[in-house]
Amino acid sequence: MGADSIVFSAPGKVILFGEHSVVYGHPAIATAINLRAKCEVTKSSDKFPSLSTPDLFPDHIFTITEKSEVPIELEPFKHLFLILSESQKKIICPKVKLTSAIPPSSGLGSSAATAVSLTASLMKFYNNDYNLEKIRDIAFESEKLIHGFPSGIDNTISTFGGGIIYERGQMAPLTSKISSSFLVIINSLVPRSTKELVEKVQKKRENEPKNVQAIFNQIEAITWEAKKQIESGDSVEIGRLMNENHKLLEKLEVGHPILSKIVGIIDQTKTLGRKLTGAGGGGCIIALFDEFSTAKEVTKLIEKKGFRAYISNIFETGVKNEQ
Ligand code: MEV
Repeated sequence: MGADSIVFSAPGKVILFGEHSVVYGHPAIATAINLRAKCEVTKSSDKFPSLSTPDLFPDHIFTITEKSEVPIELEPFKHLFLILSESQKKIICPKVKLTSAIPPSSGLGSSAATAVSLTASLMKFYNNDYNLEKIRDIAFESEKLIHGFPSGIDNTISTFGGGIIYERGQMAPLTSKISSSFLVIINSLVPRSTKELVEKVQKKRENEPKNVQAIFNQIEAITWEAKKQIESGDSVEIGRLMNENHKLLEKLEVGHPILSKIVGIIDQTKTLGRKLTGAGGGGCIIALFDEFSTAKEVTKLIEKKGFRAYISNIFETGVKNEQ
């Protein structure tokens, strides 16, 4: 990190309750996790801004102008870049490097965290007047490009951090007494597209409106109940509600045989509860444990079976300046 560089990081997330139904105005609960994306901006004497993403495209530096071509994965970030660079009279160009510890296409909010860290860094670079609300809103522009019809929960939790309940574009911070519980995030390594899964649920809702509405209503009831239990710290009850939410997501047909296999493995352990998180169709399962040693054993077991597992606290910090 050079003396003149600006560095912001932003967290990934898991949805604890309410994915998919949140797209239709129902509430969802999300928490920031301890995997983060990072954006470093330095001043350059080049004529045009540039972008490098060593995790995705090692050895490539992309020039960013309206007309420049970038790989499809980087289009949303180019879009953000152009929004933020518009009307900038600054002669010095930004040179941007994006890195991330959040596995992409796995339901952990990797694209939103990258967008949030990029937005915050460029706003500071350009000396823009910025605050968390502005960062959240601008980052949402790239989320719309990637996901088509997103609820806005991913960029919101990545910006504000902690734990939130999110409904119809509005969030309220949650307080939790379950800080001594540990979340194991298991990556099935089955990549999936949030956009495609949201569209799948949309089609199902068009074909079976009553059935899908009934599922959404049950998920909503679980989410409100979970809010109470998170606030009072009853992790056993939270685990039970996670199991219930998972069943309903399977009814929405966003499960996957590999996810069912992971659930089968987790159910043999001392888990309090487990469910898929995010759009499903692959991606991750989250499981709750009340002891770190058990969570650790389970991550080892899961890794032996060929999956990836991480232990995370819940309610991690949102976007932050790393200097
Ligand atoms: C977001 O991570 C998961 C979905 O609820 C889509 C959304 O909220 O935009 C499936």
